[in-house]
Amino acid sequence: MVTGAAGQVGRELLALGAVGVTRDRLDLTAPPGALREAALRLFTGAGTVVNAAAYTAVDAAEDPACRSTVEAVNAVAPGVLAEAAAEVGARFVQISTDYVFPGVPPVPGREWRVDDAVDPLNVYGLTKAAGEDATLARGGTVVRTAWVWSGPHAPGRDFVTTMADLAARGVDPRVVDDQTGRPTYAPDLAAGLWALSQSDGVLPPVLHYTNSGAPVTWCGLAREVFAVLGHDPARVAACTGDEWPSPARRPDWSVLDLSAWRAAVGEPPSWTKALRRGLGGGVAPVD
Ligand SMILES: NC(=O)c1ccc[n+]([C@@H]2O[C@H](COP(=O)([O-])OP(=O)(O)OC[C@H]3O[C@@H](n4cnc5c(N)ncnc54)[C@H](OP(=O)(O)O)[C@@H]3O)[C@@H](O)[C@H]2O)c1
Repeated sequence: MVTGAAGQVGRELLALGAVGVTRDRLDLTAPPGALREAALRLFTGAGTVVNAAAYTAVDAAEDPACRSTVEAVNAVAPGVLAEAAAEVGARFVQISTDYVFPGVPPVPGREWRVDDAVDPLNVYGLTKAAGEDATLARGGTVVRTAWVWSGPHAPGRDFVTTMADLAARGVDPRVVDDQTGRPTYAPDLAAGLWALSQSDGVLPPVLHYTNSGAPVTWCGLAREVFAVLGHDPARVAACTGDEWPSPARRPDWSVLDLSAWRAAVGEPPSWTKALRRGLGGGVAPVD
């Protein structure tokens, strides 16, 4: 069972055979009592519930007028859903984010570990961290991911799709080159979550999932998108995050340590191969 079934991750889980529920049947801004009742009804019979619903507009979340909605969806609802899942005997998986971590790691270049202390820089990260705590307090599992993209096969816009569009339209972008992470292809994350949901027993409390491979900046990722699609990557110019002022601060270092995921589920596919699969730019089997 997946909530947020119309989102990037939710619809990929649906494609794999999950039962999905969208906002019209389970609105996460509903008062906790009503949300609990609806969740109990919908979750009955599920083996694992994945909460892929979230308030994901990172800059809009900084607006005080949005604060109560962001908190209801990201901070409060996960605990209510986790409790309902436990009550019907289902495991609960809350999807979370690299944005729970601060801008730089304690040791330069060290990947964020599952047990590193969180210290979010923005409202989205703060509320997602509260959602993590609420999940863990009720015995659920947190899966943090980062830089999720769907590509042209799915409606909507993500960074990779935006860069592909710019490349095709002959626009030469300037892209931030001082924020580093690893992208996550939504179908790969969904396949990983599906495998996790099929595994036996108690799930680990916290896991990290992105595609594997060398960390990359947004600018490096944009250049790879251009290259895969047969455009000159040198058309992408590098700039700093300061040149793109935005309401929400973003971490400079978003690289998640994948070792807990490797131990529990296996090696995620590499992000460069995922890019070729997602953009149809060449032969790239799932590795
Ligand atoms: N996108 C990323 O780069 C990224 C990075 C790190 C972590 N994550 C996490 O990954 C998870 C999935 O993200 P995504 O990229 O799939 O996000 P998404 O495409 O924005 O989908 C989020 C879904 O949540 C639903 N939703 C929002 N408010 C709701 C409410 N009040 N009640 C019920 N449903 C509501 C939305 O419904 P509507 O379709 O009706 O609007 C949407 O379908 C989230 O937990 C997110 O925090 C994402």
